[in-house]
Amino acid sequence: MKSPVRPTMLPYGRQAISEDDIAAVVEVLRSDWITSGPTVGAFEDALAAAAGARHVVAISNGTAALHAAAAAIGVGPGDEVIVPALTFAASANCVRYLGGTVVFADVQPDTMSIDPAGLERLITPRTKAVVAVDYAGAPADMDEVNAIAAAHRIAVIEDACHSLGATYRGRKVGGLATCTAFSFHPVKHITTGEGGAIATDDPEIARRMRAFRNHGITASVQERERAGTWWYEMASLGFNYRITDIQCALGLSQIKRLPAFIARRQAIARQYAEATRRYREVELPVVGEGRTSSWHLYPVRLHLDRLSCGPPGGVRRRCERKTSAYRCITFRFPGILTTRSSATGRAAGRTPNRAMSGC
Ligand SMILES: Cc1ncc(COP(=O)(O)O)c(C=O)c1O
Repeated sequence: MKSPVRPTMLPYGRQAISEDDIAAVVEVLRSDWITSGPTVGAFEDALAAAAGARHVVAISNGTAALHAAAAAIGVGPGDEVIVPALTFAASANCVRYLGGTVVFADVQPDTMSIDPAGLERLITPRTKAVVAVDYAGAPADMDEVNAIAAAHRIAVIEDACHSLGATYRGRKVGGLATCTAFSFHPVKHITTGEGGAIATDDPEIARRMRAFRNHGITASVQERERAGTWWYEMASLGFNYRITDIQCALGLSQIKRLPAFIARRQAIARQYAEATRRYREVELPVVGEGRTSSWHLYPVRLHLDRLSCGPPGGVRRRCERKTSAYRCITFRFPGILTTRSSATGRAAGRTPNRAMSGC
């Protein structure tokens, strides 16, 4: 049978902005606070409810969220952090920003998330944390990862930049790890233009992350105004990773529609599955048992040997260079691919399941 081909390139993603979203942003623009103001806190509260977490720190993007989480749990020079070899570069770069060493772990061949079976042998006395990425929107094996981490007294950062609104064994993504990082880039489930957040149940980790996003300053402008003082200290090294009230107004308005956005993504995923199930050329994504995916991506793997057509342009050229049976048409990241480069991190041996994805 001839393989079906789309005539035009499928866009990577488009945001859905409503009139209510626009009105919410305009309202903040007319207010006294356009950054570090009350709308940031209101967005954090709404996110905490949506993610089932005690504390949420909103921040400038998902990469900064991972950086703040890694800093708050104390990653530094000499520390190792285990990261799955199939992910976006930021999951590993957050370790490198702090002078830590990335140790890559393989992923499971079906769900494509970190394989707990291979985790324990990667842990050394220098291991500080493990990053579990909810690849494509389905939570990783969080119970298994948490149990191994607890036995070795290491922290777990859940990179949930793909999985806001997903659930794991009846629990919301956001309350499953030491820290959970979210992204609100326009291709994500809700958007703030650029934006991110970290959820945690630990008040001390939350305090450190709040300071980290604001130059390490001990009191925010709002707190200083309430206390009637200009005095503050820069107690630690931090960054300007603040998010504006303008962005948070958009996020606060968008989050009301999170259930509808997720339902729509789930309906589209069902449609994709229905439409492609009968094709031997295509292998569909697998969501692990007891969880729901919020479907940031729908990564299919192609059996190139069974295709009667070639993939377009650059993808075809890369496919031709590869000998593997599969190609994954989602991600390709130089930072992750060069796992043997000392500038990037330490290879944890071969990661054949990651390689099988073609990435
Ligand atoms: C798994 C993962 N982690 C982190 C990020 C970084 O998020 P941001 O683009 O908001 O910095 C992304 C971005 O897509 C991602 O896919």
